[in-house]
Amino acid sequence: MADPKKALPGNAPGDFFVDSSCIGCHNCSDLAPDIFGEVEDHFYLVVKRQPANEDEIHRTLQALVCCPKGSIGIIGSRGTRARYDIKSIIEEFPLEISKDVYYLGFNSDKSAGAKSFFIASEGGNWMVEAPKFQERTLKWIESRGGLSHIFLSHRDDVAQADLFAGYFKAKRIIHQDDLEAQPGAEIVINGLEPVAFGDDFLVIPTPGHTMGHCVLLHKETHLFTGDMLTSKERFGDPIEAWKPELCWWSWERQTESIGKLINYSFTVMIPSHGRIWRDTSANMTEHLRRCVERCHSETDTNLR
Ligand SMILES: [Fe+2]
Repeated sequence: MADPKKALPGNAPGDFFVDSSCIGCHNCSDLAPDIFGEVEDHFYLVVKRQPANEDEIHRTLQALVCCPKGSIGIIGSRGTRARYDIKSIIEEFPLEISKDVYYLGFNSDKSAGAKSFFIASEGGNWMVEAPKFQERTLKWIESRGGLSHIFLSHRDDVAQADLFAGYFKAKRIIHQDDLEAQPGAEIVINGLEPVAFGDDFLVIPTPGHTMGHCVLLHKETHLFTGDMLTSKERFGDPIEAWKPELCWWSWERQTESIGKLINYSFTVMIPSHGRIWRDTSANMTEHLRRCVERCHSETDTNLR
């Protein structure tokens, strides 16, 4: 629970605040981009503007209940807090974000607050990354028929995927080069060739952010990009790479991997951290080309 005594400097005065336990996962700024923002030259986010209408309050409360560290709070008396119906916000989750695709909410701090998703599929449902292992999420997934596969984009975002795999008898998918993060994974991707799972799912190895990073393409529509890509974070562009300091293995290889995605068709980009972007396939190709050009011009500050 957020502590008002530890409220970060830079919070706009008002009911909502972020405290010093924030890990900068950006989930709040994805859900409520007008309300939460990163403080320049710091890793954390604050309430840059208090919500001013019902919709903004709603989004702010969604961010509050999904914050992996519980860093977002409401200042004031019990009466002030009672004005906000947090219980009904919790019950809204998971959120449908696209046909058959849901944001599960309740990000885990064990994956630095990565978002996780549920994909309904006739051949067996998939989960992308892993949220908090909690009853509400388990029951909801159970009500949809459980899970057959859990796609793990890379080592950072596995959280408690092993518990979900055990509970649902699901198969975890991770690349060999990030396998040490989930050594019991049932399906291990090797090398650089894409691997198809039926007609609807394609795992594409995209080394760079980590050696074993992969993305998942669903029905040539949804591209789950793990930690490789985000949207409108630094340059206001629909597709961007996270800054070089957050590329743990090889910026050059990551740039190559982004270029490889130009060969695929998709219309919804879904990052594990960062905003979802929807566009035509042709526009996505152009956004990727621009992203690759920009990556070539940036310096890898983590040269190994
Ligand atoms: Fe990561």
